Formats: sequence, structure tokens, C-alpha cells
Amino acid sequence: MQAAIIEGIFPRSSRLPASRELARELKVSRNTVINVYENLMAQGYVIARTGSGTWIAEALPEGCLQSPLAPQDTQTLPSKQATISRRGATLLGHATASPYQWGAFVPGAPDVAAFPHKLFSQIQARLSREPDVHRLIYSSGGGCPDLRHALAGYLRVARSVRADAEQIIITEGIHQAVDLISRVLSDQGDTAWIEEPGYWGTRNLLRINGLKIRAVPVDEQGLIADLPPRTKAPKLIFVTPSHQYPLGVHLSLERRQQLLALARRHNSLVVEDDYDSEFRFSGHPHPSLQGLEPDAPVIYMGTFSKTLYPALRIGYMVVPRNLVEPMRIAAAELYRGGHLLIQRALAEFIQAGHFSEHIRRMRLLYSQRRRFLYGLIERYLGPEFLPVVNHDAGLHLVMNLPDGCDDVAIAASALRRGVKVRALSQYYMLPQSRRGLLMGYACVDERQCQDAFGILKACLADAGIRPRNTSVFAR
Ligand SMILES: Cc1ncc(COP(=O)(O)O)c(C=O)c1O
Repeated sequence: MQAAIIEGIFPRSSRLPASRELARELKVSRNTVINVYENLMAQGYVIARTGSGTWIAEALPEGCLQSPLAPQDTQTLPSKQATISRRGATLLGHATASPYQWGAFVPGAPDVAAFPHKLFSQIQARLSREPDVHRLIYSSGGGCPDLRHALAGYLRVARSVRADAEQIIITEGIHQAVDLISRVLSDQGDTAWIEEPGYWGTRNLLRINGLKIRAVPVDEQGLIADLPPRTKAPKLIFVTPSHQYPLGVHLSLERRQQLLALARRHNSLVVEDDYDSEFRFSGHPHPSLQGLEPDAPVIYMGTFSKTLYPALRIGYMVVPRNLVEPMRIAAAELYRGGHLLIQRALAEFIQAGHFSEHIRRMRLLYSQRRRFLYGLIERYLGPEFLPVVNHDAGLHLVMNLPDGCDDVAIAASALRRGVKVRALSQYYMLPQSRRGLLMGYACVDERQCQDAFGILKACLADAGIRPRNTSVFAR
């Protein structure tokens, strides 16, 4: 689209089709079109005019003609009529990864600057001076053995996971684990359950791997696992039981037992996504679902993306014993794992206590930042805007908005002013009226939080959303 604007296919100052219309025409979701429009807006290619839609900017941003998409370079690009497979088009049509991964209020971004980079690089530097050919070849056994041992110990103590190092497979994050699980353990047309609302990253991976997705509602006790009569049983059930994403509820004990019973009865596998449960700020940590019963039909997945930093691309899964061999072989066939030196460094980082220490420090920092943002919402907007579920955990909260309001438009208007929030409605597959904004606070210090909050408050006011006590709002 950027190239089409530069080349004049969309003339300057012309109006772009409404997002709903374009989505219908291209057979993609409206959110996809909105994401594209938002990106173009952020780069200065288009502007939004209140009440009259989105328009190509009169003057294109400086430097766009030197961009890799400029006409003079097009001979080096693949043909514009690139043939995309139906599967590829499905993936692209539902693409949701945000170009914005840092700043107020990107949901789920940890404070990567607070990671002890010097210490970690010293460990890595020492290891790279000790030549070991086994760290320089493909990984074939599920990842670095030392890291698997360190993780088994950590997961047993911190997450009550029942795991031997043997059962652990290191992946390049939860995304890769979901890809591996869906490719190896399901066939095209099998059903997978996901939470409604839920994590769109998982949804898209399942979609491209040909699974039929059923969005299963979540209430204040978590997933309502119920299989109506004459309904096809799910092959895979994806849940975030310790801290439901994005609402934050915790799957109750009764629901956990029901879920495991249902999975056993129908030969389904539960896939537990334990993406950020290290960050609980009050009360006892919720133990994993996997550890609730011996030989539970559960694959447990975890990640260092939230505890350390996302670009590390290291995650792990704990698989039932009968899946160890098939999953290891499949992982080696599909991905030819590597990064063994950094995995070995991570093992040392955990075993020397630095990992637990870092989590302790971040827990304190994130809990203060959460409290600060919560306080701003309460004070300047009012209690009706506070999260419906006050889970006191994680790296984001969901600001409550009036039912049925256009949270997508509010998020887009905030983005135009440099504030990155995500609309709660985009996390649902099925139409519903609940509205809100996901706000990440972990990578935002108090000053930035206050400034960004002020901008967001103005966006809400522009959208006609005001707290009941307007004199407070005016302060
Ligand atoms: C619920 C949930 N699961 C998984 C992930 C991604 O994990 P990874 O970076 O390990 O692929 C995220 C990232 O935001 C998430 O929110």
C-alpha cells in the first residue's frame, strides 16, 4: 500500500475506502485494514479527518522516495503480482503483529532495559572462549541439556510443574511451541478450542495449520469448558489458566478439574500457556494446571519473553513422556534448533540465582508501575474505568470502557498521538459488546505513564467518553 501511494496509484489527497468496505472487498478482517491504516498514519502517508474518513496526505513524508519501495528500486523487488498461496493469504489476511513493541502502553512488553545485560554478556563471553563443538552444531535433543536441567528445577519449585529435564523441549518462544504442537498433534480440519477473548498469536498459528477454531467463553472463573452433545471433541484446548490473556482471571480449581476430566474423556490435549505468571504482586502464586494431577493430559509452555526479554526468543515446553521422542524429532526436522551457547549461558544465569533475583526486582518494579497506572485511572477517570477483574498480576491491565463504544477508533486516535494501546474488542472472535483498552505498564516509568495517560484521557474525551464526575476530568 505504501508503494502504491508513492507510485501514485492512490493519488495525493484522495480518500481511502472505509475500513469496513475495504475489508469486505479484500475478504480480510476489519482489524487488518485498520492496522494497515494506522501504520500508514503513523508514518505520515495518510491522515484521518474526523467524520470523513482516511485520506492520502497532500505531502508524503520526507525520505519516502529513498525508501526500499521507491519506484527506481522496484526492478530489484519480486513481481507485484506475487502469487500467495491460500494458506499464506489466510495468514496475511489476519496478521496482527504490531510494528510497535516498545513504549507507553504496549501490552506485554517487559522493561528490557532493566535486564542485567553486562552480567549476562560476561557469562556468554566466558563460554565463547571455552570452545565446545557441541554448542556450535544443530540441536537435536530438545535443546541445551544444562538449560533443560535448570528449568526442570525452577519449574518444579516455582510453578509446581511435574517435569524431568527429559520432558523439556526448548523452543524459540511459545509461538514456535504452538506451531510444533499443532503441526504434530493435529490434522487439517481438527478442532482446537481457544479462549474468548484470547491471544491472537495462538489463533493465527492454529488457523494457518488448518485447525477449526472454536472460541470458548471465559467468565470470572476462567474458561467454561463444556462440550454440547453431538459436538466434535477438540483435539487441542489452549488455555492461560494462571492469568487469562487478556482479561487476567485465574482458572478456578473446579474448572481446572472439569477441564482435565473433559480432556481425559475425549482424548484431547490441554495446552497450558503460562506466559507471565511469574509476575503476581499479591497473594499466593497460582500453581500450574499441568502439576495438578499426575500424568495430566497437558502440555505446559513457558517463555523468557516476559521474564527477560522477547528478542531472546527462548521458550520451553514440558510434554507428557510419550510425546518426548516424537516432539524432539519433529522439532529437529522442522526447525534445526541452534543458539546453544546462549541457552548454556541462560542455564548458568538460572543456576547462579540471577534469574530469581531479576524476577524479584522486576516484580517489585512492575507492581509499583501497575499501582501508579491504576491510581491514575481511578483518580482521573473514576472507578467505572478500572479493570473489571483486578488480578494484581502481569504486565498489562484492561481499562474498562462503556459497552459498545468504538474502542478500535479510540486506540487508533491514541496511536496518532504516539500512545499505543490495544482495543479489547480485537481480542474477541465473535461479536460482543464489551469494550476496553489493553495498557502495558511494565516498560513505562511514572513520568512517561503520566504523560501518555494525559493524552489518552484527551482521546477519550474526543470520543465523547467522560467520567461521571467531569470536574475531576477537567483537572
Ligand atoms: C498469552 C501469550 N502467549 C504467548 C506469547 C508469546 O510468547 P513468545 O514470545 O514466547 O512467543 C504472548 C506474547 O505476548 C502472550 O501474550
